[in-house]
Amino acid sequence: MKILVTGGAGYIGSHTLVELVKEGYEPIVVDNYCNSFPEAVKRVERIVGKKIKVYEADIRDHDALSRIFDKESGIDCVIHFAGLKAVGESCKDPLAYYDNNIVGTLVLLEAMKAHGVKRIIFSSSATVYGDPVYLPYDEDHPVGNTTNPYGTTKYFQERILRDVCAADKDFTAVLLRYFNPVGAHESGLIGEDPQGIPNNLTPFIGRVLTGKLKELSVFGDDYDTTDGTCERDYIHVVDLARGHVAAVKKAVQKGVCVYNLGTGKSSSVLDVVHAFERASGKKVPYKISPRRDGDLPAYYADAKKAKRELDWEAKYSLDEMCGSVYEFNLKNPDGYNKSNK
Ligand code: NAD
Ligand code: UFG
Repeated sequence: MKILVTGGAGYIGSHTLVELVKEGYEPIVVDNYCNSFPEAVKRVERIVGKKIKVYEADIRDHDALSRIFDKESGIDCVIHFAGLKAVGESCKDPLAYYDNNIVGTLVLLEAMKAHGVKRIIFSSSATVYGDPVYLPYDEDHPVGNTTNPYGTTKYFQERILRDVCAADKDFTAVLLRYFNPVGAHESGLIGEDPQGIPNNLTPFIGRVLTGKLKELSVFGDDYDTTDGTCERDYIHVVDLARGHVAAVKKAVQKGVCVYNLGTGKSSSVLDVVHAFERASGKKVPYKISPRRDGDLPAYYADAKKAKRELDWEAKYSLDEMCGSVYEFNLKNPDGYNKSNK
């Protein structure tokens, strides 16, 4: 089965390519490399021992997408990762986020419609839930109370997909709400390689442990949580990738399906620090800093629906997640070969 993977060279996309090929699917990548490197797909090819077809194109480019759908006749399903994802950047440049994420999705959906492709798996986020009314968040928790333009684009994209399904009873959209994806493939060949200084916790610690950054700033230790630092539901990216394969299998049922992809467990920032220390045998130098604007104190997933309906659940522990980030950083101290960009 041919699956078009937008953003397939990115962090979650590249790990998903591995799991798709392992399960016998034929992924076809579209990426403009605005936040990734061609090298990532080459490394996926090394892991799976197969060539993967890649088109360098922007999903907002209607003609380019049309040509890809024409050339690759028989695409059965689209997994839609392509988008911008930095919360802080989205507050500084909201139009870039609405343009890339919303326009990109509209152009993609138009191309799918024109070519009779009626199944999409969409990368949504726990961020659509906003301030928790209750925890854990289940899929019926209210959505839309988003706190930044990035989150709002995810919410709008979900709404657009619901409207498309309402208008076409043969259309299927699986909305996957990811919690905090972390970790790297066991080969150490692919992982998260953010440009510049990482905003997110685990790539930041990975670079502290390899001496690229001096120390971690823990944003706040006065929250009403077990140890005063924020709590999140960290999920191994390989578990997340497996969740997409489960969703592809499910995506024969028409209409909208929504699933949380999380572990159902919450871990504090200091839990993550200690997991890295166990995995690496090194101390993580850190200092307590002021709270970061916009951070919610704590949230985690109710992941029972995905287990019940997709027969999927997360397998990896926090120690395994942190160990794999450490290994990736050790093996790739400068990330992917930047000269390949
Ligand atoms: P990523 O930046 O590593 O991957 C996104 C990929 O999409 C990149 O390869 C980028 O070059 C490509 N891309 C972006 N805009 C494009 C465009 N207009 N045309 C073609 N390609 C384009 O991010 P990721 O962490 O792999 O995230 C994948 C998806 O999951 C995103 O939609 C993101 O919002 C969502 N998500 C991520 C997280 C997270 O914490 N990583 C959490 C929840 C949801
Ligand atoms: N943190 C630090 N120091 C750092 C970086 C982060 O203490 O240098 C803390 C944050 O305050 C937060 C926790 O680590 O409490 C996790 O922060 P991340 O930036 O790694 O992740 P977020 O929970 O803020 O958000 C992530 C993605 C979003 C996505 C969300 C889904 O960045 O895109 O998970 O739950 F929407």
